[in-house]
Amino acid sequence: MTGIQLHSVEKVYPNGFKALHGIDLDIREGEFMVFVGPSGCAKSTLLRMIAGLESVSEGEIIIHNQCVNDTMPKDRGIAMVFQNYALYPHMTVYKNMAFSLIGKESKQEIDRRVREAAEKLEITNLLQRKPGQLSGGQCQRVAVGRAIVRKPKVFLFDEPLSNLDAKLRVSMRVQLIDLHNQLKREGVGATMIYVTHDQVEAMTMGDRICVLNRGEIMQVDKPVNLYHHPANKFVAEFIGSPSMNLHDLPLLRDHGAVSLRLGDNGVLNLTPELTDQVLSYNFNNVCLGIRPEYLRIVAGPADNAVQATIMTVERMGNEELLHCDIGGYRFITRVATRHDWDPLLGEQIWLHFDLHRAHLFDKETGLNLKQHH
Ligand SMILES: Nc1ncnc2c1ncn2[C@@H]1O[C@H](COP(=O)(O)OP(=O)(O)OP(=O)(O)O)[C@@H](O)[C@H]1O
Ligand SMILES: [Mg+2]
Repeated sequence: MTGIQLHSVEKVYPNGFKALHGIDLDIREGEFMVFVGPSGCAKSTLLRMIAGLESVSEGEIIIHNQCVNDTMPKDRGIAMVFQNYALYPHMTVYKNMAFSLIGKESKQEIDRRVREAAEKLEITNLLQRKPGQLSGGQCQRVAVGRAIVRKPKVFLFDEPLSNLDAKLRVSMRVQLIDLHNQLKREGVGATMIYVTHDQVEAMTMGDRICVLNRGEIMQVDKPVNLYHHPANKFVAEFIGSPSMNLHDLPLLRDHGAVSLRLGDNGVLNLTPELTDQVLSYNFNNVCLGIRPEYLRIVAGPADNAVQATIMTVERMGNEELLHCDIGGYRFITRVATRHDWDPLLGEQIWLHFDLHRAHLFDKETGLNLKQHH
């Protein structure tokens, strides 16, 4: 097997703080893997351990079939791009990019690689400038270029775009995806691990995403699977913007039929599949999860439609996010902007819940009840 494998990897910092609790992960050769999670969940710690900048307390890190626990960073065949890309200010862009190769490759080879990388990143016209004369986005591209010239088998990125403004971040994001695809086409497919706390970045960039929380893996899967099949409440809430609606609701059981009560506004009748999931569930409350797009405005009373009061309206241009009160619970729905209707605060609407797209989570463990089946 090639790629990178993590076996029961743990990290205990010298002050005794345990940052990582037994991480098992198989990153395939040539894959674009994203580590995502809230601040402090140990994304950087894990990346720095793969890079060799932090020691491994327990477990093994395997890169291309070799345990690298005791291998020096420079011998791991990796290149890392950090958030504060730390270019040498007194050197030109050219020199910054060439620096790591000097003494290791011939002058012609260095020149060829620098120009090739500059071309890829469209910074050829900047080669003679110094970092002080560049914009943030240009500096970022130089930092990536500096990694490319080394022709590493593995690229590690630690929030490389977080210093950039929102627009630039989107365009750099696309450039990095392009770069990954381009290297693949050229037959030098590089494995990339990309750390971010931005779930949108994670969703759009990753072949697969590893969601971390408090030093533990919550779920590893393709973006679309994380979105539609979250293994637990944490992933359900973290992935997707606006977040999935999540509420602990009372369960009503009546001769095999099960429904959820939304305060005084009515009940939702569970689908056969969801009913199945709660049959052996022995709490009186269960956490319902439903994404804003699966709440739809309908004209009036209908099966699984309840009355809602509009509390806040976020106008995004193409769509509106309506924050509604339903029987004392807050739900967000997203609706396409209409020219014939401007939602008003306090307005009453009817919302239909598409429970075929809903999830139930154990209120104690947060696990998706679907997993028990
Ligand atoms: N040298 C250290 N000694 C002790 N604890 C540390 C050390 N470095 C990091 N930590 C702790 O380990 C945890 C993980 O830190 P880490 O920097 O890996 O998080 P992160 O997910 O990268 O967060 P962010 O998104 O803010 O960059 C944090 O609780 C942090 O305080
Ligand atoms: Mg970090």
